[in-house]
Amino acid sequence: MGLKNDLFLKALKGETVERPPVWMMRQAGRYLPEFMAIKEKYDFFTRCQTPELASEITVQPIRRYGMDAAILFSDILVIPQAMNIHVEMKPNFGPYLPNPIRNQKDLDSVIVPDVHDTLGYVMEAIKATKEKLNDEVPLIGFAGSPWTILCYCVQGQGSKTFDKAKELCFTQPVVAHELLQKITDTTIAYLKAKVAAGVNAVQVFDSWGGMLSPTDYQEFSWQYIQQIIDALKDEAPVIVFGKGCWFALGDMAKSGASALGVDWTCSARNARYLSGRKITLQGNFDPSRLLSPPSEIKKMVHQMINEFGKDSYVVNLGHGILPNVPVENAKAFIDAVKEYKQN
Ligand code: CP3
Repeated sequence: MGLKNDLFLKALKGETVERPPVWMMRQAGRYLPEFMAIKEKYDFFTRCQTPELASEITVQPIRRYGMDAAILFSDILVIPQAMNIHVEMKPNFGPYLPNPIRNQKDLDSVIVPDVHDTLGYVMEAIKATKEKLNDEVPLIGFAGSPWTILCYCVQGQGSKTFDKAKELCFTQPVVAHELLQKITDTTIAYLKAKVAAGVNAVQVFDSWGGMLSPTDYQEFSWQYIQQIIDALKDEAPVIVFGKGCWFALGDMAKSGASALGVDWTCSARNARYLSGRKITLQGNFDPSRLLSPPSEIKKMVHQMINEFGKDSYVVNLGHGILPNVPVENAKAFIDAVKEYKQN
């Protein structure tokens, strides 16, 4: 493949490395002044849909900090948009879907689109990004898990409980499963197209998986993620990040995924134990800890690497970076990994 820095792909394969690779979830985001300069001029979906902008935003954090992987600037909600569900991104509010899916009739208008027609701009953004990256570091493509996408489609906006999404699952399970399957089919085609366009790995974000009980997780989230892994794993390494899903690490480790994301509420020791010690883990620095002084961040990062072990490990945050993190603190996080020496 000829990448100049293949540390990330090595770690996904469990190969021995000098130091673990590092990237940050939401690394292309509002904590970067150069991102804010573009955000002032173009609305959210214009940034996603314009390959020149999306590729520029993707490489901004790489230029500034030199992470070991880039993640394509886009959003998980481009999938429902392509499925004929209206999605808006309201400033200072977040995602807003004015016509949420609440019954069979609503579901009937939801389509499984041709991803090349509806999401061709993402593939163009990947090609533009690959050119800008010039084979320096691998590029990660991503999608939301079917359950996490359902949460927004049914709730119609962000939520602390996603009560309406859960209500649909528990009162109209046939409708919920049909929606989940449509999202799964679209997501598989989408991620395959992303791999064909050039991404080197894919990550599935199950950001709201932790809203479900372990039993409901199997029924409404995990079985659909497993379908995605089965369909993708021979084409690219798959990373599954389930926020709050420590209880599923055992099943996840047997799934054919290459790596599992862990949030900061699960210790390294417990995550290694639950996942059976073989699979690569990714995480799990508390994003708010990037508000600590840089010297403290560095100490904590070194301790985190020692706890996970330098091999079969990808340094990351336990969820996305917060907008109010000072740029020098994000730098301390990345630099700490690059300076890491095993003791
Ligand atoms: O990681 C990266 O740098 C790539 C870019 C990326 C974005 N969204 C850009 C974005 C990724 C990987 C996502 C995934 C995403 N989007 C998730 C899963 C990951 C997670 O953090 O849990 C979810 C749940 C969404 C849905 C979404 N998009 C929300 C809830 C919001 C608004 C809340 C917020 O943080 O403001 C968005 C908007 C969004 N997506 C922004 C960015 C940089 C901020 C708004 C903007 O730039 O105008």
